Amino acid sequence: MAYTVPKLTDYSAAALVKAVNQCIDACQAEAAAVKNESELKLLRDRWLGRKTGILTQINDLWLKGSPKGEKREVGIHVNELKLRIQILVEGTQLAVGETVKAVSDGVDITLPGIRRPIGAEHPVIKTMHEIVAVFQKLGYSVAEGPVVETDYYNFEALNFPPNHPARDTQDTLFIAGQQTKPQRERLLLRTHTSPVQIRTMERMRPPLRIVIPGQVHRNDPPDASHSPMFHQVEGLAVDTNITFGDLKGTLDHAMKALFGSSVKTHFRPSFFPFTEPSAEMFVSCFICGGSGQRGSDPCRPCKQTGWIEILGCGMVDPNVFEFVKDNGYDPKKVSGFAFGMGADRIALLKYGVDDIQLFFQGDVRFLQQFS
Ligand code: PHE
Repeated sequence: MAYTVPKLTDYSAAALVKAVNQCIDACQAEAAAVKNESELKLLRDRWLGRKTGILTQINDLWLKGSPKGEKREVGIHVNELKLRIQILVEGTQLAVGETVKAVSDGVDITLPGIRRPIGAEHPVIKTMHEIVAVFQKLGYSVAEGPVVETDYYNFEALNFPPNHPARDTQDTLFIAGQQTKPQRERLLLRTHTSPVQIRTMERMRPPLRIVIPGQVHRNDPPDASHSPMFHQVEGLAVDTNITFGDLKGTLDHAMKALFGSSVKTHFRPSFFPFTEPSAEMFVSCFICGGSGQRGSDPCRPCKQTGWIEILGCGMVDPNVFEFVKDNGYDPKKVSGFAFGMGADRIALLKYGVDDIQLFFQGDVRFLQQFS
């Protein structure tokens, strides 16, 4: 028979203790019978439910219904009972494997604990750390900057003039409600990590060697190879005599460190407003070894070309140095190179994952593979 709250007629101490004990026994028996989450919820609602829970009924029937002179004594018992029932119900926990144990007298320290698995580095973050580590060994330090950027740092100081069509290639996501501000102060989600080049040169005088890992956004519809949020690792080296040869040597070394000593690099002319000359760098496909074939099948990652595009790079445009000239970056005296690569793309290639969305869906079954 399920427990129902009895009406009290006898308010003597002995009768109160008896009623309280009956109630606790009933609750204990019900708690011990709980076998799963839904039964646990029913138990909680039945005993602790605010409107019609048993504790509320007891409050109404026993306490409010008691004669004036007895209220104090009844109150003490009811409060004690409430506490005991609360501990009983809240302490009823599902242990591993949905077996259940009611904890009535405090905590049973012999019960197995709830295992909280240690997390692991996300594959994209892991890849970023690997890239950063390669450059740290060459003496580069790490710089970071804000994800919400101003038009000035994301575009203007990188030699994208206002209204220049090169801005369109960046598919920028703008922060709403900025129209009243002057253009250079308007906020946006940075479309690349390059604004941190300017921010760092404002703070630190040359010579400078930095890597910049970070999150960037572009208004790209998500598909297997695009995500509106992704990650880049940027690099910048500035000194008095940096040449395109330094750029090639540094990046060739970095690619061998990342993908294995047998990969080759290949540079093709390109365009970025903030570098001149600019190039795209390819590495020989480390999946098919550069042949474009995997056995008799075409190699998909390199589209049978034997080359994979990895990054954009170039010599820092003198117009960029003009913006930080006062901090020692006189374009007549210093030169430098810069590069930027997509970390998610590199992670996809490294781990042979064919859909970038998998990186951002947070499915533990997928992520566990990289721990
Ligand atoms: N910021 C460029 C991009 O996102 C990459 C780049 C960085 C190119 C540095 C040249 C130098 O496409």
